[in-house]
Amino acid sequence: MLRIKEATMTTLFSDLNPPPRLLMGPGPVGVDPRVLRAMSMPMLGQFDPAFTAYMNEMMELIRQLYRTKNKWSLLIDGTARAGVEAILVSIISPGDKVLVPSFGRFGYLLAEISKRCGAEVVTLERDWGTVYTPDEIEAAIRTHKPRVLAIVHGDTSTTMAQPLDQIGAICRKHDVLLYTDATASLGGMDVAVDAWQVDAASSGLQKCLSGPPGSSPITFNERIVEVVKRRRHVEAGIRPANFVDGDGPVIQSNYFDLGMLMDYWSEMRLNHHTEATSMLYAAREAVRIVLAEGLDNCFARHRLASEALTAVLTEMGLKLFGDQRHKMPNVTGVYIPDGINGDAVRSMMLNDFGIEIGTSFGPLHGKIWRIGTMGYVCRKESVLTCLAALEVCLRQAGFQAGCGTDAALAIYRKAETPATPAAKS
Ligand SMILES: Cc1ncc(COP(=O)(O)O)c(C=O)c1O
Repeated sequence: MLRIKEATMTTLFSDLNPPPRLLMGPGPVGVDPRVLRAMSMPMLGQFDPAFTAYMNEMMELIRQLYRTKNKWSLLIDGTARAGVEAILVSIISPGDKVLVPSFGRFGYLLAEISKRCGAEVVTLERDWGTVYTPDEIEAAIRTHKPRVLAIVHGDTSTTMAQPLDQIGAICRKHDVLLYTDATASLGGMDVAVDAWQVDAASSGLQKCLSGPPGSSPITFNERIVEVVKRRRHVEAGIRPANFVDGDGPVIQSNYFDLGMLMDYWSEMRLNHHTEATSMLYAAREAVRIVLAEGLDNCFARHRLASEALTAVLTEMGLKLFGDQRHKMPNVTGVYIPDGINGDAVRSMMLNDFGIEIGTSFGPLHGKIWRIGTMGYVCRKESVLTCLAALEVCLRQAGFQAGCGTDAALAIYRKAETPATPAAKS
């Protein structure tokens, strides 16, 4: 008789029991418990009418989030860079020229992905902590004549947000496709895709949308559809009998082929991948929560946190990083004071207070901390707790931090006080 021999080396480790943390870095941030609850809902088959109805609802929710009428507003399964890759690999044909005005780490990511798609990439660079003027971008378009302009909206590495409201019109004028990476900004600041004439945009759940990493809401318009249709191709086994390929080069990724993804998310329901069911539940709930609060209220909440945080850090005697006119409201860069060991302060924040703040990389490594006030942690109690802890840690490290947390409390109290009606004369 065949006996299955119990492995003597079985190692089960302990029960999963992550330490409680207040995540005040540049993402991921704490997940809204309502999103966690949604993720625990039962599995459905991907073509169950109940599930395809959720997919359709998801598309409508994404449209509202991006303030767009784009039919093609859907989820890419994967972290935020999956959304970036899906768009870039589907619109860039080998040899296409792509212009990337970079102002931080994630600009380099767009350049890197574009290169892998076979593009001839022109990367503009500038000091971290600054952004481009529309004139600078238009001048570069005139010089380099790209087919695609790929630009980050909010770059968490520098905390800066690139104004995009005039860039779409410039791109249209020069017949350039505009793609933006709104991973860090969507839900925390306006991403008005139609008003700004952005052709394609992508994001992630784990920042201002208060979800876990692993799903990327994207949207794109008919200008993108036209490009993708020319490259249409369906894999054998699910290819309809009368299907005719497009006459352009086949998209170099199967998983991220927007043509097949459109067929999967449309009435055709092409049997492409298996939609990540629990991540769709998470995304659906995360976006519902933002829309129920109201986009403008959500943005105001992020602005208020930024106001309180920056006022207090300054009051404590710290210096803020970057051009403050263009700082994202959901993440703040602050210089580590001279003589203070930034990593030691971060460790103390984590080990003694259970609070995570962000380090930095590239030219900013060891120079600034990045404090996130995104999504679910963008609340008075998180901001005050983080600031009070930072004050203590800085004092322990030998920096005479001014007492700033009271100022943050005052800013929140003032915002909470209803305006007194004007006295009748
Ligand atoms: C602007 C931006 N783009 C892309 C990414 C990559 O996201 P992910 O790690 O979810 O793939 C990030 C992550 O921080 C980001 O801030």
